[in-house]
Amino acid sequence: MTQSQVILITGASDGFGHLAAEKLLAKGHVVYATARRVDRMRDLQQQGAQTLHLDVTDTAEVQRVVSQIIAEQGRIDVLVNNAGFGQYGVVEAVSEDQLKYQFDVNVFGMHRLQQAVLPHMRDRQSGKIINLASIVSHVSAPLLGWYAATKHAIKGMTEALRMEVRDLGIDVVAIEPGAVRTGFEAVAFASMETLDTPADYDPLIEGMSNATRNMYASSPGPQSTARAIVRAVQARRPKAVYKTTPDSHILPRLKRLIGDRRYGALNLWMARRTLKRS
Ligand SMILES: NC(=O)c1ccc[n+]([C@@H]2O[C@H](COP(=O)([O-])OP(=O)(O)OC[C@H]3O[C@@H](n4cnc5c(N)ncnc54)[C@H](OP(=O)(O)O)[C@@H]3O)[C@@H](O)[C@H]2O)c1
Repeated sequence: MTQSQVILITGASDGFGHLAAEKLLAKGHVVYATARRVDRMRDLQQQGAQTLHLDVTDTAEVQRVVSQIIAEQGRIDVLVNNAGFGQYGVVEAVSEDQLKYQFDVNVFGMHRLQQAVLPHMRDRQSGKIINLASIVSHVSAPLLGWYAATKHAIKGMTEALRMEVRDLGIDVVAIEPGAVRTGFEAVAFASMETLDTPADYDPLIEGMSNATRNMYASSPGPQSTARAIVRAVQARRPKAVYKTTPDSHILPRLKRLIGDRRYGALNLWMARRTLKRS
């Protein structure tokens, strides 16, 4: 039986964060579920979670939330750095402000949380940080270049952090899902609609949007990823990386096997195929 742990989860109003919070509460842990849409976490509150407003782009709010948990519980055992979204669209069309916001949430947000909890975890010589990376930490595709850039950054940072804090008693874990049906897809496609994209890209956007929507339609739900988060929380010696869906195992291997050029051609072929059909 694992001891009850004090867990801070970001992005718990939907998707992986919400389901992982439910599972961790069911295991008897003390869960602080955070997000901007607090109303979407009422059910978690009824199940015993503490729910708090937290926008991960707000440094002062991050500090306040971490201080509040330490004041109330005396410790934070686990940080689940899950909040994030995908800014979709061709690389050329994403504005500098949109790109900055994409990194502000996915990468700098993660770092704000890490900087807030690490002094406390170092003092206690104990703690666990679980970062949501992705299959697109390893591969990329048209329309998700900048989103993949944030997840490549997260992979590089997470690997370094794992080594830096290992001897200080702190574990660092990366969770790598492939495509999963959550709120993610709707937010990502909505973000693309705000872009002013040159018409030259129209066939690519139509084909890749079709291919991506088809992929999501046959993708798994968030169960296996939420289960991996729970396993990582409860393990005495967690794995460095949890790949949580079949595609997250297969696609990086396929790319290594056939090479970058053929992997790119395969992506474009899949997009074009959807245009011939419609
Ligand atoms: N679904 C996939 O295919 C997939 C695959 C690989 C990795 N991931 C990663 O997994 C993580 C969770 O995604 P998901 O699939 O569960 O998506 P989701 O259902 O859209 O949930 C995303 C969560 O992030 C929160 N969030 C977004 N911006 C935020 C901000 N500025 N401050 C605080 N919270 C914020 C949202 O809460 P509020 O809007 O209420 O703040 C929401 O709770 C993300 O890091 C995502 O990149 C997803």
